[in-house]
Amino acid sequence: MTLYDRIARFYDPWSRSVTEDVGFYVELAVASGGPVVELAVGTGRIAVPIAEAGVNVIGVDSSPEMLTAARAAAVSAGVSERLDVRLGDLREPPVPERVPLAICPFRSLLHMETEPEKLRALRAARDLLEPDGRFVFDVFAPSREDIEETHDRWLEREPGIFERAVWDEGSRTLSLSVRSGRDAATFGLHWLSAPEWQRLLDMAGFDVETLYGWFDGRTYEGDEDMIFVCRRR
Ligand SMILES: C[S@@+](CC[C@H](N)C(=O)[O-])C[C@H]1O[C@@H](n2cnc3c(N)ncnc32)[C@H](O)[C@@H]1O
Repeated sequence: MTLYDRIARFYDPWSRSVTEDVGFYVELAVASGGPVVELAVGTGRIAVPIAEAGVNVIGVDSSPEMLTAARAAAVSAGVSERLDVRLGDLREPPVPERVPLAICPFRSLLHMETEPEKLRALRAARDLLEPDGRFVFDVFAPSREDIEETHDRWLEREPGIFERAVWDEGSRTLSLSVRSGRDAATFGLHWLSAPEWQRLLDMAGFDVETLYGWFDGRTYEGDEDMIFVCRRR
């Protein structure tokens, strides 16, 4: 059982307020013409709207329960024929197809614990792409204010859903605990700075076309959020 299997039941209500990224990824998917591979597709929060926009999506995730939820979401949106979900690891995605766009939304690459694991994931993403294809993902590095405001405090993020962030600036790891009723899990999220991501992307064979600071298209200026738009070299 993966950590996300334990919280798949309440992942959607937990992430209900996260909507700012959906239009951004849908627009890229439509512009690419598809098909699109979403690495760490989860419950289809992004993949289902992409499928609703008429673009075929292959979604990879290591959590069977999250994929069950994604399938159900696609059925209820009437787009199950456009969403192909596959159980697997994003470092070795079970995807022989080559596509014009791969995405990895909502900070999922931060589940990769070390730089070598992150590099492995980036190389795997590159291998999915057609020549000139793009890989787009978002990650974050916390600000001091964010750490001070939230450190080691249980907060009710949504009704009945509680979250606690424990920040370790030495190892640059966020241990994020989430619970609702008897279901609970604690994940590690391992952040890097923008220059460190740029170095890994270069090693993986990507050129960074744009680094945004937010989904409204503002340029990155040392903000917490980083949205990398990369082109396969
Ligand atoms: C924060 S959720 C993001 C889900 C979805 N992309 C979204 O935007 O809502 C992170 C997802 O990463 C998946 N995940 C974590 N490690 C993974 C790995 N090594 N391979 C594939 N999926 C992984 C989890 O199962 C979970 O569904």
